[in-house]
Amino acid sequence: MAATLTRNALVLSLLLGLGHAQAASEPSPTALAARLGIPHPAVIAHRGASFDAPESTAAAYTTARDLGADYLEMDLQRSKDGVLFVLHDNNLQRTTDVAGKFPERKDSPANAFTMAELKTLDAGSWFNSAHPDRARPAFAGLKVLTLDEVIDIAEGNLLHKPGLYIETKEPKQFPGIEHDLKQKLQARGWLIPADAKPTKNELAVGQGNGKVILQTFEKSSLELLHKEMPQVPKVLLLWVGAGSIEPKSTVTFAESGEKDKAAWYAKQEPRDKAEFQRWVDYAKSQGAIGTGPSAALTQGGDQSYSDLVQPWMNQYTHDQGLLVHVYTVDDALDYQKVMAAGVDGIFTNRAGELLKFYKRPAAASVGQVLQNNGF
Ligand code: G3P
Ligand code: CA
Repeated sequence: MAATLTRNALVLSLLLGLGHAQAASEPSPTALAARLGIPHPAVIAHRGASFDAPESTAAAYTTARDLGADYLEMDLQRSKDGVLFVLHDNNLQRTTDVAGKFPERKDSPANAFTMAELKTLDAGSWFNSAHPDRARPAFAGLKVLTLDEVIDIAEGNLLHKPGLYIETKEPKQFPGIEHDLKQKLQARGWLIPADAKPTKNELAVGQGNGKVILQTFEKSSLELLHKEMPQVPKVLLLWVGAGSIEPKSTVTFAESGEKDKAAWYAKQEPRDKAEFQRWVDYAKSQGAIGTGPSAALTQGGDQSYSDLVQPWMNQYTHDQGLLVHVYTVDDALDYQKVMAAGVDGIFTNRAGELLKFYKRPAAASVGQVLQNNGF
C-alpha cells in the first residue's frame, strides 16, 4: 500500500511538474504583447476620454487621441439602414435628446433609427447637465458617430495614431455585424495582412499589427469574429452574471438588500475556480489573445462590477498565454491595485490620468487638448 501511495505521489508530482513546464513554455505577457504589437501596459480610452467629454463623441475621441491613448474603445451597433455606428446603450435616452425629438420612439432601440435620424440628435448636452463641473458650451449638439467617423479621428493626428478597440455590442441584435465590420475595416485599410511581421511601435499603435483589437462578451460573436478576421487580436470580455461566468450566489440585487448595484456586484464571484478557468480556456480555444475582466472599484459607481482580476485569476490567464485588459478603472488607487494584481492594460474613462500613472504624461492638459480641437 505504502509503495502504491509513493508511486501515485510520484506520478502526481510528475503531472504537476509537466503542468508547470507547459505554463512556463507560454510567452511572458510582455513578450506576447510585443509580438502582437499591443502596448504593454495598454491605455484603452473607454468610449473615448469619456470622463472629460460626452462619451463616444468627437470630443471624447479626439481628446483621447491627442492625449496619447493607445486605443479608442467603442461599442459597435448598426442603424436601421445598415450603417455601423458607435453607442454604448441599447437605446438613446441617457445620452441624447431623443425624448424631445422622437417622443413616441424614445424607448425604441437605437438600431430602429436610420443614420440620418440618429444624426439629428444632440449627443452632448446631457453631459453638460449631468456634469456641470466639466460642462463646455461646445459639447451641446455633438453628434452620434459612425464607425467611419471614428476611424477618421483615429487617422487624424499625424503625430499619434491610436488603435481601435471595437466591441460588438449585443451582437445577437445585429446578425452579420462581424462580416460588416470586416468589410469596413478592410475598405479603410485597417486590417493587417495575415502574414504581417511582428512590430512594436508604442507611439503609433494605429500603424502596427495591434492596430485593431476586437472584443465581445458573446461567445457566438467571438467565434464569428475569429472566422471573419482570424489574424486580428480578439479579447473575450468577462463578468459574473447571465450569459457569462456563473455566480456562486443566486441572490438577486433586489433580494440582497444592498444599497446599490456596485455593492451587490462586489460580492458576486464565480461559482468556483473551475468556472472561471472554463471561460479563460474557452477564450483561448476560440482564438482570443486575452480576456477583458471586470473590476470592483474602490469608490463603487455604475461601472463597478465583480473583482475578476484577483492575482490567481490573472496568473491562470497568463499561464494560458493570454493577456488581461481590465475594465473600467479611473483612479490612481485602483490603477495601482489592478496593476499589482498583474493586468496588462486598462480600459479607462480618464486616459490622461492613466497615462500619468504609467509615466507617459500627455504634453498638454485635457483642457488644452479640448480647446485645440474647438471644444
Ligand atoms: O468593453 C469593455 C467595457 O467597455 C465593457 O463594458 O458595458 O462599458 O461596454 P461596457
Ligand atoms: Ca465596451
